[in-house]
Amino acid sequence: MKPLIVANWKMNPQNLGEAKKIFDGVNKGMKGIKGAEVVICPPFVYLTSYNLKAENCKLGGQDCFWEESGAFTGEISPGQLKNLGCQYVILGHSERRQHLKEDDEMMGKKIGAALSAGLTPILCIGETAEEKDAGKTLEILRSQLQQHLEGLVIAYEPRWAIGTGTPCDTGIAKEIYSALRETIKTDAPILYGGSVNSKNAAGYLKEAGMQGLLVGGASLDVKEFIDIIKNVS
Ligand code: PGA
Repeated sequence: MKPLIVANWKMNPQNLGEAKKIFDGVNKGMKGIKGAEVVICPPFVYLTSYNLKAENCKLGGQDCFWEESGAFTGEISPGQLKNLGCQYVILGHSERRQHLKEDDEMMGKKIGAALSAGLTPILCIGETAEEKDAGKTLEILRSQLQQHLEGLVIAYEPRWAIGTGTPCDTGIAKEIYSALRETIKTDAPILYGGSVNSKNAAGYLKEAGMQGLLVGGASLDVKEFIDIIKNVS
């Protein structure tokens, strides 16, 4: 399987012109790179602009709701994402768990709806700094995993590593990878996310054994993101 590199743009950039620049730059930079599968997850509002032009990258949403249609103001359904050309959807990102109080029960419903619509959910799991210090990392990760993991991608994103410039040590990532692989008992790809850059990217695949990366900040910098892809291809 090719490494799966997922760009999570979060709530960036601020206008369509900037978004197009990043998207076109990555798509162009991907020409000739055959050794990785790249998924770009922009804010929903930019998705319509890209669905016909994503030749070298796949598209994903950053979230979806658990119902397909109806009176759910502000929500986006899995089917709507699918109809815009998305193949993936990030679910349970720690920023949503923290700011919007998304919980594991909601995650179960969202995963079911996403799979029914034909999307591959990327389920984010990760412990806080306090949980890590209390030696509870694996307990927390196991509790965030869902009953049905068939057809999912798992992203291990320690919360203390997200956007902090303090990535997880590759040795620790390797231990966590082994524990997760043993727990999930499927061949679901496991990604690492949290302060990934072009210097540390390869270690998570080659040393820690992960199948890919979930990249936030560095995915908004075209050169840096392409370097990440090249370094793991
Ligand atoms: P980061 O974010 O790469 O900026 O740390 C990763 C993520 O939140 O998915």
